[in-house]
Amino acid sequence: MSTVLALDYTNMLAPSLGGGGLDPDRLLAELAERFSGAYAGVDGERASGAMGFFELPYDEAALSKTREVADETRQRFDNVVILGIGGSALGATTIRDALLGPSWNEQSDAERGGFPRLYVMDNADAATLGDLLSHLDAGRTLFNVVSKSGSTAETVASYLVVEGHLREMVGEDQARGHFLFTTDAERGPLRQVAEEEGIPTLEIPENVGGRFSVLSPVGVLPAALTGVDVDALMAGAVAMDARCRTPTLSDNPAGLFATLLHSADTETGRPIHVLMPYADRLRSLGLWFQQLWAESLGKDVQTGPTPLAALGASDQHAQVQLFMEGPHDKVVVFVSSPCSKDLIIPSHRKHVPGMGYLAGHTLGELLDAERRATAEALRRRGRPNMTVEMGPIDAYGLGQILMMLEIATVYAGALYGVDPLVQPGVELGKELTYGLLGREGYESSHLPAPDPRWRV
Ligand code: PA5
Repeated sequence: MSTVLALDYTNMLAPSLGGGGLDPDRLLAELAERFSGAYAGVDGERASGAMGFFELPYDEAALSKTREVADETRQRFDNVVILGIGGSALGATTIRDALLGPSWNEQSDAERGGFPRLYVMDNADAATLGDLLSHLDAGRTLFNVVSKSGSTAETVASYLVVEGHLREMVGEDQARGHFLFTTDAERGPLRQVAEEEGIPTLEIPENVGGRFSVLSPVGVLPAALTGVDVDALMAGAVAMDARCRTPTLSDNPAGLFATLLHSADTETGRPIHVLMPYADRLRSLGLWFQQLWAESLGKDVQTGPTPLAALGASDQHAQVQLFMEGPHDKVVVFVSSPCSKDLIIPSHRKHVPGMGYLAGHTLGELLDAERRATAEALRRRGRPNMTVEMGPIDAYGLGQILMMLEIATVYAGALYGVDPLVQPGVELGKELTYGLLGREGYESSHLPAPDPRWRV
């Protein structure tokens, strides 16, 4: 039975917040009016084909090709390593951690049901990559190089290092059989190498950017390789898309998510938007959302909310003090989900004061109580918050929340008046890096030497 995601925004509203939140009548009138404009804008962009992520769950051809590649590949490898960065890595990590669990790679073959281990190398850090290469059996490892542009320095450099390593371990001829590229259909250096070397590829559609690519082969291939129920993942996304195909704000979960956060930022001075799931399996979801919200909406000196990933209950002992008593500049979005494999707290220390009350409860009950208590404590201090009730952490539920957050991001782009699909701000840093490393065409990149007076 699939659980329908719910968004509880009671704690965003003023009467329950003691003045720190939105007036419910205005929410229904003014915000709803504003949303209908944003909805129409996004709907127009979608119809024009500019927002390809909307169509990914319906793309049967891409799905069956991805499945075919996964079925063919899975037999030959015990390990799959993704080389990618940003949107080309975070979606796969989110799916892996949520649906396979953070300890997937430590499990035995039998515990993993014969599916491969899945590693995501999302940084060109020699210490991490070197460690991994030294303990993986190269002969049983597939490297999936993921890059829309096919030219991102960190990914391309990691690929070249891995290819050099494989050539040493299995020989040049065999090495090419250990690669699969997920990249643009026509452009970029990876595409060129794939054509020259006959390396199999999966395509990232032209109209799908990195941070919106989780339901493309970027996220779906690793999911299919490791036995995730891809149909359920897509069904969850389709169900959320259907719910969000209405300009009526009160019926549209992504619309409410975007409008409430936009309004909290621009009208009540709360530009910091915290996503705080209460489950280790959703820790990466917070990081995925952080990239999605930041890179899509941070485009204008006047606007641009700052997303922040947090994890309950761990961050109750790290960040919540700041959320509770620091500046009134945040909205906390909790994500709740019931624990699937719960553990009962035994009663053998029932007689010890400060321990006895826990006896007979479960760890799941404890986490849930912590979340509810934190939401209420924030409310009592006039700190707006809302809760995404995700239901069990399964493929259907993940499909719903991923789609909701992606749709909310493009609505927020319309509300802020920025283009959520581009990221010109990261280009200059990339170009300067190319210049420093001597890439042709970037010779003019020049970094001033540090001033010795200002060093200690
Ligand atoms: O969301 C984005 O567009 C970026 O985070 C990219 O995913 C990231 O820069 C990697 O780019 P590419 O996939 O071209 O290697």
